[in-house]
Amino acid sequence: MDVCGEGFKLMLSSWQERIEQALAARLPSPGEVPERLHAAMRYSVLGGGKRVRPVLLFATARTLGLSEGEVEAAACAVELIHAYSLVHDDLPAMDNDDLRRGKPTCHRAFDEATAVLVGDALQPLAFELLSRDPALPSDSAVRLRLIELLAHASGSFGMAGGQAIDLAAKGRRLSVSEVEAMHERKTGALIRASVLMAAACVPQLPQSAHASLESYAGAVGLAFQIKDDVLDATGDVATLGKAVGADVRQARPTYAVLSGVGAARERMQRLHEQAHEALAPFGAAADPLRGVSAWLLARRN
Ligand code: IPE
Ligand code: IPE
Ligand code: MG
Ligand code: MG
Ligand code: MG
Repeated sequence: MDVCGEGFKLMLSSWQERIEQALAARLPSPGEVPERLHAAMRYSVLGGGKRVRPVLLFATARTLGLSEGEVEAAACAVELIHAYSLVHDDLPAMDNDDLRRGKPTCHRAFDEATAVLVGDALQPLAFELLSRDPALPSDSAVRLRLIELLAHASGSFGMAGGQAIDLAAKGRRLSVSEVEAMHERKTGALIRASVLMAAACVPQLPQSAHASLESYAGAVGLAFQIKDDVLDATGDVATLGKAVGADVRQARPTYAVLSGVGAARERMQRLHEQAHEALAPFGAAADPLRGVSAWLLARRN
């Protein structure tokens, strides 16, 4: 497959459509009490976003010979955690942003208390899916492993911990390795979990294949947040659908601020090459994952 070509683009948009429908079917309907909370949950999850984490689950599934259907519920679970993290990230107590995915942020469209509750409700919904969604493998050991992977990636040793480090870093000068450690938690952890959750659906997967996927995911996760930092410095609001220049305004020590955009781009390119090298043992079967890495490197939003 030409990993940057039409074939990959078609597969990508079919995955993005699939996850939209899968999420819409699993979120509470807006007519159910409490209507306002359910409307805010749907507002925050549906109709936007690149769906990077579900796409990584689908691409890993393809690489390992699984169908999309076998990982669809797990893909929804990761996206629900990600969507909740964005709702809370945008709150005045955190980044205080007004625009997300081209629309007013949840607390702007609703109110702050509702935005807190949206996060409170999306998070357990993710774990409810992993425990009982009929689309997942019925093996309870697999489900338990999925719950463990997502819980660890979401908590203080993953996304939430990374967000705490991010808040504490405001106005301080960090070293490059400290910024990378922060990025690995706040963004890398959920990206890594997305790949490893698909891998966990193949319990007999050899350790060496698992290690290769882990190495791919680590490189892609770090490159992803560096790119987010670069886009904050170089992108435009209309394309990004969120504020630009906010990292400098709020004195956040990002990779781009610390090392400059040129060095950040070089680091991303090296990480992209590392991601490709890690996939070598899979041969052409890993083309979907190569395509994802190329897409994320080139993305403009
Ligand atoms: C934005 O994530 C926040 C980070 C973790 C860098 P995405 O760039 O995946 O946001 P959406 O889901 O496409 O809106
Ligand atoms: C947020 O990082 C990472 C999360 C865990 C949500 P940013 O604060 O840089 O994300 P954006 O730029 O607001 O999307
Ligand atoms: Mg933030
Ligand atoms: Mg933010
Ligand atoms: Mg950012």
